[in-house]
Amino acid sequence: MTEESSRDLENLLTEERRFPPSAEFAAQANVQADVYARASADRLGFWAEQARNLVSWSTPFTEVLDWSKAPVARWFGDGRLNACYNAVDRHVEAGLGDRVAIHFEGEPGDTRTLTYAELQREVSRAANALVALGVRTGDRVAIYLPMIPEAVIAMLACARIGAPHSVVFGGFSAEALNSRIVDAQATTVITADGGYRRGAPSALKPAVDEALTKEAGSIVQKVLVVRRTGQDVAWQDGRDVWWHEALEAASDQHAPVVVEAEHPLFILYTSGTTGKPKGIFHTTGGYLTQAAFTHLNVFDLKPETDVYWCTADVGWITGHSYIVYGPLVNGATQVIYEGTPDTPHRGRWWEIIAKYGVSILYTAPTAIRTCMKWGEEYPAAHDLSSLRILGSVGESINPEAWIWYRRVIGGDRTPIVDTWWQTETGAMMISPLPGVTTAKPGSAQKALPGIGADVVDDEAHSVPDGHGGYLVLTEPWPSMLRGIWGDPQRFQDTYWSRFPGLYFAGDGAKKDDDGDIWLLGRVDDVMNVSGHRLSTTEIESALVSHPSVAEAAVVGAADEMTGQAVVAFVILRATATAEGKSAEDVSTELRAHVAKEIGPIAKPRTILVVAELPKTRSGKIMRRLLRDVAENRAVGDATTLADSSVMDLIAAGLRAPSDG
Ligand code: PRX
Repeated sequence: MTEESSRDLENLLTEERRFPPSAEFAAQANVQADVYARASADRLGFWAEQARNLVSWSTPFTEVLDWSKAPVARWFGDGRLNACYNAVDRHVEAGLGDRVAIHFEGEPGDTRTLTYAELQREVSRAANALVALGVRTGDRVAIYLPMIPEAVIAMLACARIGAPHSVVFGGFSAEALNSRIVDAQATTVITADGGYRRGAPSALKPAVDEALTKEAGSIVQKVLVVRRTGQDVAWQDGRDVWWHEALEAASDQHAPVVVEAEHPLFILYTSGTTGKPKGIFHTTGGYLTQAAFTHLNVFDLKPETDVYWCTADVGWITGHSYIVYGPLVNGATQVIYEGTPDTPHRGRWWEIIAKYGVSILYTAPTAIRTCMKWGEEYPAAHDLSSLRILGSVGESINPEAWIWYRRVIGGDRTPIVDTWWQTETGAMMISPLPGVTTAKPGSAQKALPGIGADVVDDEAHSVPDGHGGYLVLTEPWPSMLRGIWGDPQRFQDTYWSRFPGLYFAGDGAKKDDDGDIWLLGRVDDVMNVSGHRLSTTEIESALVSHPSVAEAAVVGAADEMTGQAVVAFVILRATATAEGKSAEDVSTELRAHVAKEIGPIAKPRTILVVAELPKTRSGKIMRRLLRDVAENRAVGDATTLADSSVMDLIAAGLRAPSDG
């Protein structure tokens, strides 16, 4: 951490940047301050109580945690349950069938409301349809859908039959879909003709068709296709099946398949420090417990009256835990929106909040900063007085955006919860608790009750207050990942080897003088662009797979809007240089290539063509120096470079107008 940013941090901790909980809010909050002490006095007892209170078990568990096979945990191991039953059926059985589960708002303005009773019939039909297509308990199902109710229904239908789902974000490419299908050996794909994005239909089925011309084609038996946009689709008889036809033919009665607490619920691929994404897998009982506990208490949810909206996509872990499992297990009413915030106008989000009376909003700092840039007139034109809790996730929220969020969107009355967690943690880990903690703009603050987090130095010693280091988790937690699909060694190496006995999160962090935690960004080769995780190595591999590129180095450079932005340095092959293309043409071509290989979100913001890359004597690219260049800073210590003139060469090349 630089001296400058540490000074900024001090400034933020002044009295006027602290927001104590209002007495009125505190009096009605779901949790009280003693929750921390209760949880730390008997951590396992605390989680067992949450598991009993928040989740329904077909066979109650007697065992809470088995950590004897660390780092693979078993939580509530002898209990049996079904995740979909917990998310849907039990609410209907409790007489809440008429409660709205989902208010769906399509981008073109079409709407659909699903009560819990309707959701139960839909997931039952979908479960029967999957079984009729040959999907069995334990089989993997890939889901590649836009943000439509069918995405939730498909996930729940898989959970209902005990078939782990692997949701692939609709913005990922055919190539990315192929590799995820192959890694998980998914035999079925659920997709759509397309979805609406930025005012136009955006096709999805062609990417599935393309993915299935590759290795995935020999694994996938059936493709279920939701008709959303009515676009023309290519059809492979015998393999492709319309979702609506399959569901119409299916009964709306289906008995959920009871599974063990440790039965895999889903796999979700996320970027690591190598070119190959990691299939993070989560199981059932512990995951549901922590997703439900955190959703209920971090958002202070009152299921009878709140209208909750999480703007994430189900393609990310936030969509899994805080659109599908957390809210539905808690019997919440929620909004799901298909499209972009500025379609057809920049007030669309605020219009949706006013229309449905949204009371809890969960979104990402990038989105908040974008809305801030568009201006206050858009939120000001709508009645946002229904909002009572605001959440943030995906990256640290800068204090300016935090204060804008609270003042302009929350009308100065709403607690903000800045929630730190990861795909791997499955659910929130570090966050303020509304009504209990004093909020500090920019800090995720405190490990939640029952969670152990610390900041340590290189030798794994806990750092004193006022110091920085690496964020670690010190105790197993119910929703922790149970592994990387098919790669136990990588699981051990990535998370459990840096500091023996501690989970290494990959984030830098600092404790302030009160012991509150401030997240400082990744300390590995993972970037965070608009709250989305991208791997530098994965983008480098995509770049060098282009025939014009000899070598590539990618860094995440600070970006005002997206947090970080992808900046690529490439060395062209002699053949490509000879073609005499302009730097702009090369850049356009390479950006399109990365979009094709990974997906549009991975496209570099800037591509700089260079003659050399800075490397150590052992051949390791010094990304730190490239980051200095990308962020327009004076280049730091370059003495370990094999050839110390390289940085001068890069700087000179970047100044040359022909390299733009
Ligand atoms: O660097 C941290 C950042 O996002 C990473 C996890 O990314 P992912 O698995 O895609 O999950 C994102 C949604 C939970 C973390 O290692 N991150 C997430 N939330 C925060 C955050 N950084 C700072 N503050 C947060 N609230």
